Amino acid sequence: KRHLISAADLTRDDAVLILDTAEEMARVADRPIKKLPTLRGRTVCNLFFEDSTRTRISFEAAEKRLSADVINFAAKGSSVSKGESLKDTAQTLEAMGVDAVVIRHGASGAPYRLATSGWIDAPVINAGDGTHQHPTQALLDAFTMRRRLLGPDAGLGQDLGGKRITLVGDVLHSRVARSNVDLLHTLGAEVTLVAPPTLVPVGVEHWPCEVSYDLDSVLPKSDAVMMLRVQRERMNAAFFPTEREYSRRYGLDGQRMARMPGHALVMHPGPMVRGMEITAEVADSGRCTAVEQVANGVSVRMAVLYLLLGGNEPAVTHPRTEEK
Ligand code: CP
Repeated sequence: KRHLISAADLTRDDAVLILDTAEEMARVADRPIKKLPTLRGRTVCNLFFEDSTRTRISFEAAEKRLSADVINFAAKGSSVSKGESLKDTAQTLEAMGVDAVVIRHGASGAPYRLATSGWIDAPVINAGDGTHQHPTQALLDAFTMRRRLLGPDAGLGQDLGGKRITLVGDVLHSRVARSNVDLLHTLGAEVTLVAPPTLVPVGVEHWPCEVSYDLDSVLPKSDAVMMLRVQRERMNAAFFPTEREYSRRYGLDGQRMARMPGHALVMHPGPMVRGMEITAEVADSGRCTAVEQVANGVSVRMAVLYLLLGGNEPAVTHPRTEEK
C-alpha cells in the first residue's frame, strides 16, 4: 500500500505484518544504540494543522530512529494563518522534495484529499483527521493489547481473535474509537461501545460492534477497557451531561476497575481528563497502559514508515552490518 489513511483500509495480514514489524522495532529500542540506517537520505515532513503531543513527538522519534531527515511544520506560525490553502502548502513541500508526509488536520478527509489530489507525489500517513480516523493510534493500541494479552513472542503472527474490547465515552467525536472499531474487528476481536446516548454516532448500528449503556455490566466481560477523552472542544454544550453525572455513569474509578477480570487492561489514548473519564487512582495504577501505549507508538510508527518507505530491505539488520 502507498498511503495509510484509514484503519479500514488494512487487511488482517497487513495489520499483523505491521504489528510483527513493530515488535522488531521495539527490540531496537532496547539496544544501547537505538538508531537504524533504514531511511538515511529520506526526508519526512510532519504536517500538523491541529495540536498534538504524543503523535507529533512519537512520529518525530520514529523518523529519527530510522535516520530520516525530519521537517516539522506546525500550522500555527506558518503562512496557513495568512490564508494559504492545503494545496499550496502541499505544493511547497513537493518543491522541497519530501519523501513522505505525516498529516494531522482538524478536517475529516484532509489526508485523503492530500493523498489523492496529485498535489504531492509522496506517501501520506494520517496522524488524525477531525472525527474520522487515527490509524496509527489504533495500531499502537492493538500492539499494546497483543503484547499484554498474548505476549511479545507468542503474539507474533497472531491477531486478537476472540478478545473482548470495550471502548467507553465520547464515541461521537472520537477518531480513535472509529479506527479501533475498524482495526479490532479486522483482527477478530469483539468490540463493545459504552457511551451516553447523546455521544453515540448516528448509524452506529452499521458498525461492526455492540453498543451498551451499562458500563458495570460490560466490565466483567472485558479483556481491555479503553477510556476515551471527552472532547469538549468539538461539542455543543447542550448535548453534554454534567461532569458529575458523566463520571458517575461512565467514569472509571477504583471500585469499577475491581469489576474487571484480573488480567484485563485499562487503556487511554491520551490526553486524559483525570477526574472525569478516569480517576487518578486508576490512571496511575499498574493496570493502566497509557504510558506504555505512548512508548509502543514509536515502534508502531517506525514499522509504518519502514513498510511504506523502506522498500524490500530487511527491517532490522545485524548490528555489525549497520556499523559499516
Ligand atoms: N493520542 C493522541 O493522538 O494524542 P495527541 O493528540 O497528543 O497526539
